[in-house]
Amino acid sequence: MAEIVLSGIRATGKLHLGNLLGAVENFVKFQQALAGNTCLYFIADLHTLTTLNDPEELRGNLVEITKDYIAAGLDPERSIIYAQSSVPEISELSLYLSMLQPLGDLQRIPTFKYLVRKQPDNVTLGLITYPVLMAADILGPQATLVPVGEDQVPNVELAQALARKFNAKYGQTFALPDMMAQMIRVPGLDGAKMGKSEADNAIDINAPMGDILDRYLKKGVTDPQRIRATDPGDPYNRCESVYAVHELVTVGETEHREIANACMAGTISCRACKHKLVESLANILEPFQEARAALANRDDYVKDVLHEGGKKARARIVETVAAVRDKMGIVLY
Ligand code: ADP
Ligand code: TRP
Repeated sequence: MAEIVLSGIRATGKLHLGNLLGAVENFVKFQQALAGNTCLYFIADLHTLTTLNDPEELRGNLVEITKDYIAAGLDPERSIIYAQSSVPEISELSLYLSMLQPLGDLQRIPTFKYLVRKQPDNVTLGLITYPVLMAADILGPQATLVPVGEDQVPNVELAQALARKFNAKYGQTFALPDMMAQMIRVPGLDGAKMGKSEADNAIDINAPMGDILDRYLKKGVTDPQRIRATDPGDPYNRCESVYAVHELVTVGETEHREIANACMAGTISCRACKHKLVESLANILEPFQEARAALANRDDYVKDVLHEGGKKARARIVETVAAVRDKMGIVLY
């Protein structure tokens, strides 16, 4: 069966290494592996409004993330790349779906509970309906496969439940989307999950390699029990910020095993290990940054990609929304 793959990222800021390895590189793999299938990748600018209220920043992030998508290998000829807001019918579908969605389930979603704690003065209707808008993103283009990070699992389950509920009530309308939960978790400089948060633990994928090295040297937390370079370390259990990234980016099983063995034997210093890590990162980031630099002055091209992608996505979504309106008894006079 031909798959319709769909995923998105919010436009909250610059992309970091976690976003690249955990999300965008995966998007590229689907684009390459699934010849004959359709990939839709969007920037969830409407969802961004739940936490960001700086219009200039939002507009800027949208274009920058689109450049990151393209530089990482998403090809506008092969994937549909668009902004969520370019398809107003997504918001309309979200409203229809909200009529089938009990409030209680939304109050129990972990990301909602987390944000209630984090931004108690900004608990809006938009925040609580976040997963319903996400269901509209997924169900509108009849997605069959949704690759997402672990934290998004409850949201995709809610979309699946809404599809089942709608189909049961109004007849077959939506494809049931399969989820593909991403297993990799890229740790940040402090060893916790890399994120755009206050922890300042992220590696900006567009930073010069020298700055990335500096950040690892100064802020990368390694095995706290290694006082001297000759002390034996425990890379597997006590070096979340550096060794765990080696495992993800250092090519070849033998090479990172050698590094682990040297750490355990106390024959490589943490400093040397960080240098090696940044060399491995350079193999991934330098080609990316080169492609990214070529887009630096091509905002018109990037906006054109979003415009064309928006038209293609919209053509698919309007069909679904027309069927939904019809089934629910809404007539556009
Ligand atoms: P952040 O956590 O920095 O706010 P988002 O929540 O906007 O990032 O995530 C965008 C995408 O990147 C999601 O698919 C998410 O699963 C993925 N992602 C974010 N951080 C990581 C990480 N540290 N490791 C792996 N994937 C990540
Ligand atoms: N909520 C997702 C995130 O924070 C982004 C997103 C919005 C999404 N709509 C989506 C992901 C639909 C997959 C499918 O990462």
